Amino acid sequence: MNILIVGGGGREHAVVKALKRNRKVEKIYALPGNGGIAQEEGAECFPIKATDLDGIEAFAKSHKIDFAAITQDDPLVMGCVDRLEALQIPCFGPTKAAAIIEGSKVYSKDLMKKYNIPTAKSETFTDAGKAVAYLKTCDYPTVIKADGLAAGKGAVIVADFEEAKKTVDEIMVKKVFGASGNQILVEEFLTGPEVSVLSFTDGNVIVPMVSSMDHKRAKDNDEGLNTGGMGTVAPNPYYTKEIAKECMDKIFLPTVKALNKEGRTFKGCIFFGLMLTPKGPKVIEYNCRFGDPETQVVLPLLESDLLEIMLAVREGRLKESDVRFRDGAACCVIVASDGYPSRYETGYEISLPETKEGEYLYIAGAKAEGEKLLTSGGRVLGASAVGNTLQEAIGGAYALAEKVSFQNAYMRKDIGQRALRALQ
Ligand code: AMP
Ligand code: GLY
Repeated sequence: MNILIVGGGGREHAVVKALKRNRKVEKIYALPGNGGIAQEEGAECFPIKATDLDGIEAFAKSHKIDFAAITQDDPLVMGCVDRLEALQIPCFGPTKAAAIIEGSKVYSKDLMKKYNIPTAKSETFTDAGKAVAYLKTCDYPTVIKADGLAAGKGAVIVADFEEAKKTVDEIMVKKVFGASGNQILVEEFLTGPEVSVLSFTDGNVIVPMVSSMDHKRAKDNDEGLNTGGMGTVAPNPYYTKEIAKECMDKIFLPTVKALNKEGRTFKGCIFFGLMLTPKGPKVIEYNCRFGDPETQVVLPLLESDLLEIMLAVREGRLKESDVRFRDGAACCVIVASDGYPSRYETGYEISLPETKEGEYLYIAGAKAEGEKLLTSGGRVLGASAVGNTLQEAIGGAYALAEKVSFQNAYMRKDIGQRALRALQ
């Protein structure tokens, strides 16, 4: 089979590695892919942006593609799946109508309200003046969110009214996130441990994957700026069997059913960003795709065949499909360019160690130049390892990450420590 994958991060490298385990896979085309994917045997990258739907469509027409996996948010929200399916190419990933759960936070909030799915209370504003007037009356901290996609930076926790006013000005008036800031949500500030749950759904059955924990801040002890994620562990120790059951009954199934009722049947991976509040689990956000870097700990634990699951999702056969995860744990440590997520330098040659079984180097912000791999982004790569215990997985991931070298490499030193404390 020839597979097309649209996206170019560490998540996509993890998906490519997992797909390659299936012998039916002959060729993987990645648009645009990255330096790590380019070096995988059987994989080839083409410099077509994930948001260039015309380019993707033209590529798909001129290559024999048997199946496509769209794993990045913006092409999904723009309708990449609709375009490829119209060419008779079966896809893993939601249609534009269903991807709206990530594309519009206002839409998701309204959906959750309508179907009684637990989430933070909020108000929606299309007018900056009215938002500011409301913010005068709020309790602080409070959370301001741009409606649309904002590269993971669209949620701002504001400490007081002054900061709130400034944030509204940036999002709604200066439009730092473009049209994504035409509407905002002002949301109640919730507290509690966060859990990421990625789940497969064929629009009928929903099968959660092993839970995980992201580390979003740039610096140790959850300090510094918000990033795309500096590391992950799986499973998430806060996510007990009881909580999983509660989430299935109150959140996961109701979400799938709600989307069906709205005529927006979702097939693909729904990512539930949850907060385990003193009043129970609540949805912080939905994503319409695998998480990054959650995928880099979830897929190493997947024992079953990813391609078979993706095909089952597309064909509505998830119920009879085998979705098994191994026992034990996984940890992923992101090795970034120092200065990320603000300013950083790129273009440095990366030296990578050999990997043993249970170790994975997932390349994200790096490009191939001949045999060489040069840094090209903020999050350069993820070093992942599995172990029988969380401690072992963390030790393995750090041992691997420490052997990666490039001039301005930076990593957090405390990935997984909070999870370890929770286990004690
Ligand atoms: P989001 O872009 O919606 O995933 O939000 C990014 C991060 O902001 C989340 O992972 C949380 O850490 C934080 N956050 C978002 N919404 C809330 C909320 N209502 N209360 C507290 N923290 C939040
Ligand atoms: N790690 C969070 C995300 O993928 O959105």
